[in-house]
Amino acid sequence: NVFAQETNKDTLTVATNATFPPYEFIKDGKIVGIDMEIANKIAEKLNLKLNIVDMEFNTIISSIESGKAHIGMAGMTITKERLKSINFSVPYAKSTQIVLLNSNSRLEKIEDLKDKKIGTQLGTTGDIYAKDDFGEKNVQSFDKISDAILAMKNGKIDAIMIDQQTGRNYLSNDSALKKIEAPYVEEEYAIAINKSNKYLLDKVNKAIKELQDDGIIDKITKKYINS
Ligand code: ARG
Repeated sequence: NVFAQETNKDTLTVATNATFPPYEFIKDGKIVGIDMEIANKIAEKLNLKLNIVDMEFNTIISSIESGKAHIGMAGMTITKERLKSINFSVPYAKSTQIVLLNSNSRLEKIEDLKDKKIGTQLGTTGDIYAKDDFGEKNVQSFDKISDAILAMKNGKIDAIMIDQQTGRNYLSNDSALKKIEAPYVEEEYAIAINKSNKYLLDKVNKAIKELQDDGIIDKITKKYINS
């Protein structure tokens, strides 16, 4: 059985952080987005109902470790550090970091961020890179990127380090923002799963591969991203 010690055996619980369009966000009171559609397809293939739990990004991994959620899907990048606490599925998307600025900002390239205040979402790869490269004291971590954007508009921070697609999404809805590219490595998004649940990992990997082969992940992605 997928969920050895559980009462609710017909449900797959996915932990997410619905502040990350187009992967997960709230629309008309519902949690939607690329990840949620893929999660639904996976649950379907496993013959389970999908239960979505929205939480702070920073708590997703511990909720999987503690068994509160079976999988974590939140545009989550595979990192060595995270692999110490959880397993990752095969990747299903790629990303990199970009920097958002107020459209009237005079900053032009990543080097200009030196000694400036950079906003990030707490616990994300952008948060980690910004702290590594520009120093902890120059980085302010927010629970939500929307709060960081507000702080930038109010002049409290100068720039925001964020995943590319989500950054572009905020950008395309807000003419008071602009971006600069950041020379960071490519990141791969994958599904987080409890280390002890090899069975579920195999099932999820198989489902992702089928959804890729059938062009379904592509189709879902194109629905939200027109690049
Ligand atoms: N890809 C980045 C990371 O894994 C950011 C993900 C943020 N996701 C979210 N749903 N807020 O750290």
